[in-house]
Amino acid sequence: MAYTREYFQAAADFLRTKVDFIPETGIILGSCLGPFAQAVENPVAVDYADIPHFLLSTVASHAGKLIFGTVAGRRVVCMSGRFHSYEGYSFEELVIPIRVLKLLGVQSVVLTNAAGAVNRDYRPGDVMVIRDHIKLNGDSPLRGPNVEDFGPRFFDVSRMYAPELRRLALDCAAGTPLRVHEGTYMFFPGPQFETPAEIRAARVLGADAVGMSTVTEALTAAHCGLPVLGLSVITNMAAGVLERPLSAGEVDEAAEKAAGAFSEYMKKIIAAI
Ligand code: HPA
Repeated sequence: MAYTREYFQAAADFLRTKVDFIPETGIILGSCLGPFAQAVENPVAVDYADIPHFLLSTVASHAGKLIFGTVAGRRVVCMSGRFHSYEGYSFEELVIPIRVLKLLGVQSVVLTNAAGAVNRDYRPGDVMVIRDHIKLNGDSPLRGPNVEDFGPRFFDVSRMYAPELRRLALDCAAGTPLRVHEGTYMFFPGPQFETPAEIRAARVLGADAVGMSTVTEALTAAHCGLPVLGLSVITNMAAGVLERPLSAGEVDEAAEKAAGAFSEYMKKIIAAI
């Protein structure tokens, strides 16, 4: 598939017929963090299946809807359900959502995910503001012919997770019941959880948390000049940290438990951006 500006524009043009405002912030909700979508006021929901050239969520806990509306008085567009390479999508395909959000006019993106803690000081239910990421697995989403309309072939990613947004998110933690850290997210492609040896390696490399998403979106945003705020909800201690196997049930349960406080925290952040 040749990706041209027109390819993404078809999706954005279709979405423009559904809403009469330009969203300021794009939000991508991670596994089981969907309840935040209920905080969107005057929502207009569009099924991914109806959007030309969009992708389809195959994960049960991802709704597969784009929701336009307001949160804390701010115009937002919220992706309830995201796409991962483990679903079978190529890394190149994973540029689609962020490029469509960019063409819709958003000025920043908030990427959320569920993650496993590598840092032993973290606990399930904590939040990590992503300072930087490590991605040693898989291709870049920007592989292939460059679409100059979005950004240059070679681009800087040293301030991909915008320092101002990280500061703002850390400041917003005050007065919430959440323990909020700042740390490094390391991408693993999944769908299997990591081995204990991989987690030990991740720790040596400087990772604080691991997960299977977010980095392709952050890289695509950096390419087209969109500031990124990345937030991980810690749902479990990563493999081998505790003397027991990991389960998807444990991840879902922890995400569900954290969803209420996390939604309130997100609202505070959206109001402050
Ligand atoms: N590893 C990878 N992805 C995850 C984890 C984990 O431990 N927890 C939630 N998402």
